[in-house]
Amino acid sequence: MPKALICGAGGQLGQELALTCPKHWRHASMTRSMLDIADADQVARVLDETAPAWVINAAAFTAVDAAESEPELAHRVNAKGPEVLAQLCIERDIRLLQVSTDFVFDGAQGSPYAPGDKPKPLGAYGRSKLAGEDAALAAGGRPVILRTGWVYSRHGGNFVKTMLRLMAVRDQLSVVEDQVGTPTWARGLALTCWGLADHGDASGIYHWSDAGACSWYDFAVAIRETALELGLLRQAATLLPIPASQYPTPAQRPAYSVLDKTLTRKTLGHSGDHWTSQLRAMLGDLQRHEQQHEKQQP
Ligand SMILES: NC(=O)c1ccc[n+]([C@@H]2O[C@H](COP(=O)([O-])OP(=O)(O)OC[C@H]3O[C@@H](n4cnc5c(N)ncnc54)[C@H](OP(=O)(O)O)[C@@H]3O)[C@@H](O)[C@H]2O)c1
Repeated sequence: MPKALICGAGGQLGQELALTCPKHWRHASMTRSMLDIADADQVARVLDETAPAWVINAAAFTAVDAAESEPELAHRVNAKGPEVLAQLCIERDIRLLQVSTDFVFDGAQGSPYAPGDKPKPLGAYGRSKLAGEDAALAAGGRPVILRTGWVYSRHGGNFVKTMLRLMAVRDQLSVVEDQVGTPTWARGLALTCWGLADHGDASGIYHWSDAGACSWYDFAVAIRETALELGLLRQAATLLPIPASQYPTPAQRPAYSVLDKTLTRKTLGHSGDHWTSQLRAMLGDLQRHEQQHEKQQP
């Protein structure tokens, strides 16, 4: 039975990787406090102790705006980390799956980005993730680079949970309508990681998100409507579409970052579900989890 070492196991994807681990795989899950991926001594020791066939690196510095003021920290986690993992994996004949981002693109293309399209990150986060991809590829071996975007889950902080929180207490919210991408439920992303590792022959750059495309405004409307239907929200906040220019952030974001998933779909033999179905499934998962949590309260 093959074994995978999951790095960044406390994050959204890390937790979903553990929850979706196929029956014919074993996994060792390491949170940041158990394994710092940029510390070569720690990584070497853990690889020797766990002896995995694959390392799935879900660890990252994902605070896109904070990366602008902390570029060294972003670089340490997102570039040095994958470099350390890649080099130490090759020495031990271990395969590496490195997760990356749609923010390696500048968004100017205006049509879905294929894995071979030229990256041109707009900010420090995208630059650090691209450096991580390059380091993993340059180390040799046969790494899998899996780019994704707009990740959410019931774990941690993300756009869906922020919208639910704000819509519960505010009558009106402004949401950016001129940035287009595709939401990705971390559960489907985790299953894609396992699928690529299972495939065995996969190597190089792959793209994955849920199917379809939308703006942040469209995403917020779908969150509101689905949450109202499921009873997760009691009131329908008014959502105002605004241009990104009216919501300045430290990091510039691509106006269009839809990923072309043709290669991954062909490799895995399925197209994945539309983002609205995945959103409904995640909100159902969140609701069940909250209900179980309430039952367990004394
Ligand atoms: N979230 C998105 O919207 C998004 C979009 C595109 C691509 N991605 C990519 O998808 C992957 C998974 O993202 P996610 O949303 O699951 O991220 P996440 O929830 O922020 O989880 C990242 C995890 O990495 C851990 N970490 C940070 N520094 C580390 C280090 N030096 N060593 C080991 N672990 C460390 C974090 O620990 P602490 O919590 O203790 O800091 C956190 O648990 C990442 O590669 C990310 O770049 C994410």
